[in-house]
Amino acid sequence: MVGLKSRTVLLSAFLCACPFAVVTAQEHGHTAARVDKEVTTTTVPGPAVLVNTSRVANTVEVTITAEPTRLSMITGPTTSAFAYNGRIPGPILEVHEGDHVIIHLINKLPSPTTIHWHGMHIPVSSDGSPYHPVMPGKSFDYDFKVMDGTAGTYWYHPHPGTDTGFQIAKGLYGAMIVRPRVDPLEGIKEQVLVLSDNRFKADGSIDLPDELSPLGLIDQQNGREGNVLFVNGQVMPKISIKPGEIQRWRIINAAAARVYRLAIPGQTMLHIANDGGLFEHPVEVKDIVLANSERVEVLVRGNGNAGDKTVLQTLPYDRYVPQTKPADWDKPIDLLALEYTNDTRVEPVAIPATLRKIPVLDTLKATATRVMVLSQGFINGKTHDMNRVDVTAKLGATEIWQVENIVGMDHPFHLHGFQFQVIDQDGVPVPFRSWKDTVNVPKHSTVRFIVRYDDYPGKWMFHCHILDHEDHGMMGVLEVH
Ligand code: C2O
Ligand code: CU
Ligand code: CU
Repeated sequence: MVGLKSRTVLLSAFLCACPFAVVTAQEHGHTAARVDKEVTTTTVPGPAVLVNTSRVANTVEVTITAEPTRLSMITGPTTSAFAYNGRIPGPILEVHEGDHVIIHLINKLPSPTTIHWHGMHIPVSSDGSPYHPVMPGKSFDYDFKVMDGTAGTYWYHPHPGTDTGFQIAKGLYGAMIVRPRVDPLEGIKEQVLVLSDNRFKADGSIDLPDELSPLGLIDQQNGREGNVLFVNGQVMPKISIKPGEIQRWRIINAAAARVYRLAIPGQTMLHIANDGGLFEHPVEVKDIVLANSERVEVLVRGNGNAGDKTVLQTLPYDRYVPQTKPADWDKPIDLLALEYTNDTRVEPVAIPATLRKIPVLDTLKATATRVMVLSQGFINGKTHDMNRVDVTAKLGATEIWQVENIVGMDHPFHLHGFQFQVIDQDGVPVPFRSWKDTVNVPKHSTVRFIVRYDDYPGKWMFHCHILDHEDHGMMGVLEVH
């Protein structure tokens, strides 16, 4: 059982004390070019894109306000929530390699918050970790340069002390896209799919049970799963595809604990990217396991005929201990409808066999192996302490992390600041190189990855990305200097 720290009092204080103002959604994101591109063949209103207010070349400057709001999230009563610029998910932050990015965060929440740019290789001062809380009523400017080679699909979310799960459950999460200077898949239609789930009470409020209630205890163990599955904040939205068309889907698992196993029945997908961007070569897959905070990009090929209808599903994936496994865990769940238009078949575009080169991190150069033993709620038998450094390493060093999960449920392990390459699982080498910032460590298994601490010294968090586990202290600190 996860170690109990009393967050309960704090939580209920937020729930009753804060005046949830009804704010109108700020209409960010109607930059004509981008919206036009998004609505050509789909009815999924992808989340809006943040408006760049900078007139300086290669500079992106945006404002994100985190604020209580009341939104219609499900059919029936409205929900008191938190939102970035009035939207759930928050608007997409879109930048290019080489850009200078400035984000003004305005905290209108009743509690401290941060924005963490999950997976980004940026200075620690802009990492939005618990070391840099932004107090209620205050603002903070995140300021960083986007490095070459980091193009990919990322996301942003709050990361304050022990409140991350609560703030994300209330609606604070959004997609971030880093575009390369030259995209080998230029011209292919894109969809951003932010996956999340939530649970609601009959009055429309978000169901965040007391930690010591039976459901609260299950949430602490499993991580909080919801029975309402959202794609871009909608239940079962529709994507249209022309016969023969190829689409690039950027998929983000923003759920607190649900692990997706994505599939389109009767057809394969081309898996082209992981957390840190494109693979060297596309890989044909039937399904993809997407653990918490992970991202994938896939090419979906419209192999069907005009008028055909299919779905994107999540297939059963057993990440649970038997005692708290949900009764319906073994049922596939539909996430979105994929509908073929009546257009005549389009000529599929050619997909390059090589997407890019990924540098090799050489295990012979590794100067240390860091062993992390994951048990239920603990890393190496400890819970998180802001005043303790768990791993100290030299800037520029290459090291191996050996993450051993000794318990009967999966723990997705995340490192801030540096993308890594997974080496093997239980001694079986991974089939090809990719950049990752989170790796799922299945029950009773050991995953090794290799990382080089380039460019940025500082204190970096590592943790289980099941938010309930993270908030209860399944987190440690790497100091690079
Ligand atoms: Cu998604 Cu510590 O992060
Ligand atoms: Cu992170
Ligand atoms: Cu965990």
